[in-house]
Amino acid sequence: MKTSFSAKYGPWALITGASRGLGAEFARQCAERGLNTILVATNADLLNARADSIKKDYGVAVKTIVLDLSREDILQQITPVTDSLEIGLLVNNAGMSRVRPFLDHDLDQLVKQLHVNSRAGLILAHHFGGKMVGRRRGGIIFLSSGSAMYGTAYCANYSATKAYNLIIAESLWYELGRYGVDVLGFMPGSTKTPGWDAGKPKPGRFVKVMDVKPAVAEALKALGKRPSLIAGKSNRLGYFFLGKMVSRARAIRIVSGTMDKMFGPFDDVE
Ligand SMILES: NC(=O)c1ccc[n+]([C@@H]2O[C@H](COP(=O)([O-])OP(=O)(O)OC[C@H]3O[C@@H](n4cnc5c(N)ncnc54)[C@H](OP(=O)(O)O)[C@@H]3O)[C@@H](O)[C@H]2O)c1
Repeated sequence: MKTSFSAKYGPWALITGASRGLGAEFARQCAERGLNTILVATNADLLNARADSIKKDYGVAVKTIVLDLSREDILQQITPVTDSLEIGLLVNNAGMSRVRPFLDHDLDQLVKQLHVNSRAGLILAHHFGGKMVGRRRGGIIFLSSGSAMYGTAYCANYSATKAYNLIIAESLWYELGRYGVDVLGFMPGSTKTPGWDAGKPKPGRFVKVMDVKPAVAEALKALGKRPSLIAGKSNRLGYFFLGKMVSRARAIRIVSGTMDKMFGPFDDVE
């Protein structure tokens, strides 16, 4: 029997960045809700391992697409797999992040980050969103971040790509929502994933690190109910405090100082 989730967002979900971390958990929880899944990322071995475990655990169909989402021709790489399938849910999750001073980043990597974090989601939302509107149902999730809320030093470009994702999601929430397509901008806070661990963070006592399971469950629950969501009560409270109690300049200093403490020290200006 179809669950209401799979009736609304099935029969196929396409999840980018599904080889590990939040994307792998999105894929697992979509399968748990009865959706067949298409997993996209660059690491073929990890993708195949994810596909095998999802098939074994949930008995749904799984396809993989090994693809670098910074490529110019991503749609031409994806559509041969998807053209004969009904994609009811798109999760634009793939993301690159690295925390270090802006000028220490290689410019090519920053442009690649812009392509993976934002351009890919734009292209996929335009393609699959059009088909969803035609069917008058479906869902699209854009992975944003708490760092979308305020300019954040040491991850300026990342923070800007996540602000893009938040605003496009909220805009489409209204625009596509009128045609039965649910759109959500999802802002995880610090979440324990391989990408998070790779930065060797020192979270300190004010940063609560979430597990992927509750974070993804919150996103899937919020889809169709609101334009955007910050994951986790303490994160919501923290951003509420910043928004209401301090000036924007002070908030930027606070979040930037937190990055410096967690991933730095970078702040060595005399
Ligand atoms: N974890 C957090 O604390 C946190 C907080 C806020 C927002 N987020 C957002 O949540 C999303 C997932 O984060 P995560 O922590 O799970 O990251 P992660 O552990 O680093 O995983 C990133 C995923 O994106 C894929 N990816 C990276 N570059 C790619 C490319 N060029 N082409 C295709 N796929 C690519 C990776 O797969 P391959 O390496 O196999 O390509 C991997 O599956 C990201 O958008 C991130 O910005 C995370």
